[in-house]
Amino acid sequence: MSKKKDTVLVSGGAGYIGTHTTVALIEAGYDVVMIDNFSNSEPSAVEGVEKILGRKMTFEECDTCDIKALRGVFERHEFSTVIHFAAYKAVGESMAEPLKYYQNNLVSYMNILQLMKEFGRPNILFSSSATVYGDADVLPVTEQTPRKPATSPYGNTKQIAEDILRDCCAAYEGMYGIALRYFNPVGAHPSALIGELPRGVPNNLLPFVTQTAAGLRECLSVFGNDYDTPDGTCLRDYIDVVDLAKAHVAAVDRMTEGKMEQKYEIFNVGTGRPGSVLELLTRFEKANDLKLPYKIVGRRPGDVPAVWADTAVANKVLGWKAERDLDDTLRAAWAWEKHLRNIK
Ligand code: WQD
Repeated sequence: MSKKKDTVLVSGGAGYIGTHTTVALIEAGYDVVMIDNFSNSEPSAVEGVEKILGRKMTFEECDTCDIKALRGVFERHEFSTVIHFAAYKAVGESMAEPLKYYQNNLVSYMNILQLMKEFGRPNILFSSSATVYGDADVLPVTEQTPRKPATSPYGNTKQIAEDILRDCCAAYEGMYGIALRYFNPVGAHPSALIGELPRGVPNNLLPFVTQTAAGLRECLSVFGNDYDTPDGTCLRDYIDVVDLAKAHVAAVDRMTEGKMEQKYEIFNVGTGRPGSVLELLTRFEKANDLKLPYKIVGRRPGDVPAVWADTAVANKVLGWKAERDLDDTLRAAWAWEKHLRNIK
């Protein structure tokens, strides 16, 4: 382990990406203060992080929408950098309950920014999403690709949050921001001690796949095979969550080492390789030596046919590259599901 670096406040620290990022930050020599209100996560996730690292973590149960509680966190802990994960993320739910999304995702975010300004904490890393590109005209998408109007309140919160960060970094001398645009995060830590914990029926593809393999779901529905893509199913850029976590470390290094060239920077975080839904299924079956029951059904409203990242900027500027082999990722996802369900 390298020498002690800055302390990072990780909001949504018990979440899927928050736990993996915390592990990567500690392994890189950072200290971490984790906060979470467990609205979409479990205390066992913090225990998983502690088991992997073999140490106790600094954790506080805190709702980032509660500015009084959040202020206490700022008062009790010194940190130079915040990684803000805490947010709702279900696209469909956001259509049904837009206020819940605007309220939670934007109020919590503005509370964080407000307190950072007040307490003079300079660096914020925001979890954005490839959803901001919508149905892009040219693929792969670069950071310069124009954003398309958001098609869901969830997507809109990501666009608005990016704009707020741009404006704050321009206006406040001591504020620096990085937005990481994630493509499709998948997989789990190789230890199988942390991973994704979806509540209820999963919206995302891989958790549905692993739950179907575990027998929790009868059959996977493939949403459409009549897209203008090589096998007719949608193309996405599936990025291993451990690689994604390392991109956060690279971004925090850049901020804390004073290497930012602009006060607000954006990076695509993907593999740069498109993969279809059917490819993912077939590779999951092969990598784990099992058969998945699936059927082709109609398209899911709101899905874009294809999106994948141009990662040249992240590769060059952050010095980061996705490294995990997709088969290993798919094996890790299944190992995590088996761990959750006590399957041998
Ligand atoms: C991937 C592909 C589906 C489920 C969303 C958000 C994005 C990001 C990740 C946050 C699509 C197909 C899926 C299923 C299927 N945000 N599919 N059967 O839609 O690319 O991105 O999640 O958390 O902002 O928009 O990801 O995993 O839902 O779908 O055929 O049961 O799998 O149609 O082509 P998506 P996804």
